[in-house]
Amino acid sequence: MILPKNKTELAHRGNKIVYDLGDRIVKVFNETKPVSDVFNEALTLARINEAGIPSPRALEVAQIESDDFGWALVTSKVPGVTLESKIDAEPQRFGEFLEAFIDLQIDIHAHTAPLLNRQRDKYTRMIDSLDQIDATTRYNLLERLDGMKKEFKVCHGDFNPSNVIVSDDETLSVCDWAHATQGSPAADVAMTYLLFSLNSKEQADMYLDLYSERRGAPMQGAVRQWLPIIAASELARKRSIDERFLMGWIDVFDYQ
Ligand SMILES: Nc1ncnc2c1ncn2[C@@H]1O[C@H](COP(=O)(O)OP(=O)(O)OP(=O)(O)O)[C@@H](O)[C@H]1O
Ligand SMILES: [Mg+2]
Repeated sequence: MILPKNKTELAHRGNKIVYDLGDRIVKVFNETKPVSDVFNEALTLARINEAGIPSPRALEVAQIESDDFGWALVTSKVPGVTLESKIDAEPQRFGEFLEAFIDLQIDIHAHTAPLLNRQRDKYTRMIDSLDQIDATTRYNLLERLDGMKKEFKVCHGDFNPSNVIVSDDETLSVCDWAHATQGSPAADVAMTYLLFSLNSKEQADMYLDLYSERRGAPMQGAVRQWLPIIAASELARKRSIDERFLMGWIDVFDYQ
């Protein structure tokens, strides 16, 4: 694939650049990204499309014809703006946006996709890959993971307002399915809670309380159980989140 000249850069981080090609979006990874990860993201997105979840269509995986780039994932473009930019523009409407965001997440959690990767396997691999934790902590985390309720619901894995696109007619779609698995909704809620907490503990608590209310089930206990596992998986992802912040969430075994 040759990238066209008339493209707009949407995001540039870590090992990738996301471009808007007009009617399509292309996520271009550098040469450090394993090609199997790119095909996995495409396959995961195709399964999400087939499950009937509002999402961009998976169109193509292609090698970029240039010296410094590796592989790319092409998807359809969902015209609109991110929920994150809507919240930034009108912070006074946070409560209203949060409700729509939560209802969308609850709708995702009502879906199943039996061929999707399993959450438990993914978190086990991530905890195993960590070299920042000692053997006892690793054992405790894996034992805790093993004891969690076994569920097989679609989980986005990185559900936050920057991955929700609001169209002109106010319909919502979800992009960025690279981390999706089938597993426990409470784990997915714990990830969203952690991501909100990076900016505001108050917003994180509002999110968790409203999710519980809309779902009609208190999630606080299960989320607290998942948080150390989620923080460990986030540490393994090596995003630019403060390592001490994440270690603080992992080291909470005293309250057991
Ligand atoms: N199909 C799409 N239609 C419209 N906008 C999109 C689409 N895909 C991505 N975008 C926009 O590009 C931004 C970045 O894309 P994406 O979220 O997939 O990458 P990322 O956050 O860098 O990925 P990751 O979380 O895997 O590191 C999104 O926040 C969204 O604004
Ligand atoms: Mg994203």
